[in-house]
Amino acid sequence: MPALVLLGAQWGDEGKGKATDLLGGSVDYVVRYQGGNNAGHTVVVGDQKYALHLLPSGILSPTCVPVIGNGVVVDPSVLLSELSGLNERGVDTSKLLISGNAHIITPYHVTVDKVTERFLGKRKIGTTGRGIGPTYADKINRVGIRVQDLYDESILTQKVEAALDVKNQMLTKLYNRRAIAIEQVVEELLGYAEKLAPYVADTVLVLNQALEEDKVVLFEGGQGTLLDIDHGTYPFVTSSNPTAGGACTGSGVGPTKISRVIGILKAYTTRVGAGPFPTELFDEDGQALRRIGGERGVTTGRDRRCGWFDAVIARYATRVNGLTDFFLTKLDVLTGWEQIPVCVAYEIDGKRVEELPYSQTDFHHAKPVYENLPGWSEDITKAKSFADLPKNAQNYVKALEEMSGAPISAIGVGPGRDETIEINSFL
Ligand code: IMP
Repeated sequence: MPALVLLGAQWGDEGKGKATDLLGGSVDYVVRYQGGNNAGHTVVVGDQKYALHLLPSGILSPTCVPVIGNGVVVDPSVLLSELSGLNERGVDTSKLLISGNAHIITPYHVTVDKVTERFLGKRKIGTTGRGIGPTYADKINRVGIRVQDLYDESILTQKVEAALDVKNQMLTKLYNRRAIAIEQVVEELLGYAEKLAPYVADTVLVLNQALEEDKVVLFEGGQGTLLDIDHGTYPFVTSSNPTAGGACTGSGVGPTKISRVIGILKAYTTRVGAGPFPTELFDEDGQALRRIGGERGVTTGRDRRCGWFDAVIARYATRVNGLTDFFLTKLDVLTGWEQIPVCVAYEIDGKRVEELPYSQTDFHHAKPVYENLPGWSEDITKAKSFADLPKNAQNYVKALEEMSGAPISAIGVGPGRDETIEINSFL
């Protein structure tokens, strides 16, 4: 029962699409277990490029069943337009399964996301503005709307009433906005019911049965470890659990079933939105990484903040996810630097610290301690095996592996699908 979790080991945008590409046709189910349309990845198939936000990447493979698990928050209008966009390009989306327990992002969640960010002023999180946080807040507050509620008008109306009760007070009295009409929301949501009906399923049962039948199930995390609500740089995080444990709660598959946890690790570091980032660069090098690495968000179009590789974070990701492997991406972006600084520890209030501090204050004060590794200038995009890499690139990878605490089993050396070096097979 091969159940693999694939997740971001940094702040997201590590290039998970590459790893999914590598697994290609061998995966039977691809499951998203958290997040919503705040995620974004580009998948290249042949000469076609697809930007996916909510759908699992498996949607593009004719042999794979894509699954939206119970831990995901679903904006039906986004989902339906993503589906029809793919249908127009000839992609068959009929195998998609959506958990009836997944929560729905309604227009009022999007409104609340935007007004709260505005209200936070300089303390804002820099959210994607897609209503993710408010939808998870309602889930935890037990006033959320689930996909299954679309099929019982009376329950749906009661739930929307409960959800809007406090929100309308807040919108009108605190934020000076107009109240949201219950009937309008109910009508809009009911309008999605029929269109979504063919996809709604008991995904917990389906996935557990699939594993019993020895099918290959891939759990695809959105965002990344340091954006995890529990284990990330709180409060500058997303509102779900991208870490490995989230794959279990967000899909209903028990931890004993997971066979491999693969962390996607960029050869340098990026982050979108606000929050601490010890190795962030504000100079020419930062701009060069952004330019060469094409570091602009797929979902928001925002420029990503860029910095050197941070081994403290990678070690933390290994620990908190129980990583069995790393997939190192975008090594080619570092070609051309004479020396490549790597953060090996932090200095906090004059003391050297080897591990990620649990205290937010300490992390905000963390200064990177760098070790310079010799760079390389040869083009590495054609390398097919580890031995094809220039000596200094090999040493860079080996050094990262040693510092990060899990084997690097694959390396991305270029944007193309086949520009990957496979060291140990994931299956
Ligand atoms: P939210 O997920 O929209 O609530 O945003 C919370 C934080 O997570 C913000 O800093 C976002 O920029 C960040 N974030 C959300 N999704 C992604 C992603 O897919 N990649 C990178 N950052 C993300």
